[in-house]
Amino acid sequence: MTVKSRILEILERKKGQVLSGEALAEELGCTRAAVWKAVKSLREEGYSIEAGSNRGYTLCPGSNLLSQEAIRLHLKNKTGSVRVCREVSSTNQEAKRAALEENAPAGSLVVANSQSAGRGRRGRYFYSPEKSGLYMSVILRPEGKLSDSLVLTTSAAVAVYRAVEKICGISLEIKWVNDLYFQGKKVCGILTEAVTDFESGDIEFAVVGIGLNLYVEKETLPKELLGIVGGLYSGKEEAGKVDKNLLIGEIVNCLMEEAERNEISEIYIERNFIPGNKILICEENKIREAYAEKICSDGRLLIREKNGEKRALSYGEVSLKMQEK
Ligand code: BTN
Repeated sequence: MTVKSRILEILERKKGQVLSGEALAEELGCTRAAVWKAVKSLREEGYSIEAGSNRGYTLCPGSNLLSQEAIRLHLKNKTGSVRVCREVSSTNQEAKRAALEENAPAGSLVVANSQSAGRGRRGRYFYSPEKSGLYMSVILRPEGKLSDSLVLTTSAAVAVYRAVEKICGISLEIKWVNDLYFQGKKVCGILTEAVTDFESGDIEFAVVGIGLNLYVEKETLPKELLGIVGGLYSGKEEAGKVDKNLLIGEIVNCLMEEAERNEISEIYIERNFIPGNKILICEENKIREAYAEKICSDGRLLIREKNGEKRALSYGEVSLKMQEK
């Protein structure tokens, strides 16, 4: 760990407190000049660090830049790697690379301030502009077959639900299979990808990618997303107050707990707004109407077709059918 990284870790841990340069130098076993150099470099990266008249340093309480040092502070299990990027094509892509090439352990994560080619389900593009959202991918190494992987997806939805409720005090709704909604708009999308052993069908690793909008800038939002996509907060200022590193840490902690439990949580069923409604199902580019009966204990969605036949869906694209007046 570099001096800069260690100083950032201490500043984040003691955010808002005055830390003497002398004490920092002593703790890190370096010179005061080295401390000053590290602080200067952190400031150049955008950190608001005040230097008081008593020659102490303070990381401003409002400082909210993403860093692996700050995220790590909030992780319960610190054995995974944490990588924070300014911009990547896709955090899922980077996480898959880390899992394959670096054998990154479960709980490792890749976070980005923005994505140039964010991926959504069904090969769609996921709009990932800088500052307004959190884009993160977590590596999991569950035991089991690809056919058991539905629980990974539902675990991720529950993890986001629990973390957002705890940190932001906002209670989201879940749309089967793994979107989260607030005030009628989609605020979070989840893309779970798995690499399996071809012969046994066992999962080698899975990457759970989460895109969570803190707010949306209506002026720059692509037209096709207007009215569909929303944020946790109505504006930039309010959204800026959420400690992003803490929220990411909490999502990872909850995800690891949920994945460990390996069962469909009650929360997933209770917060799901699809059951009990007429829905539209999009399969193989065809849309048909059905009725959503309930979420089964294995996470599948039990539907009743128009001809009365019942089926349990493991994946697919569903939406509420607008009720005729
Ligand atoms: C969807 O709603 O279709 C799923 C969207 C998943 C987006 C997240 S953002 C972080 C991670 N990296 C990606 O490229 N995609 C996921």
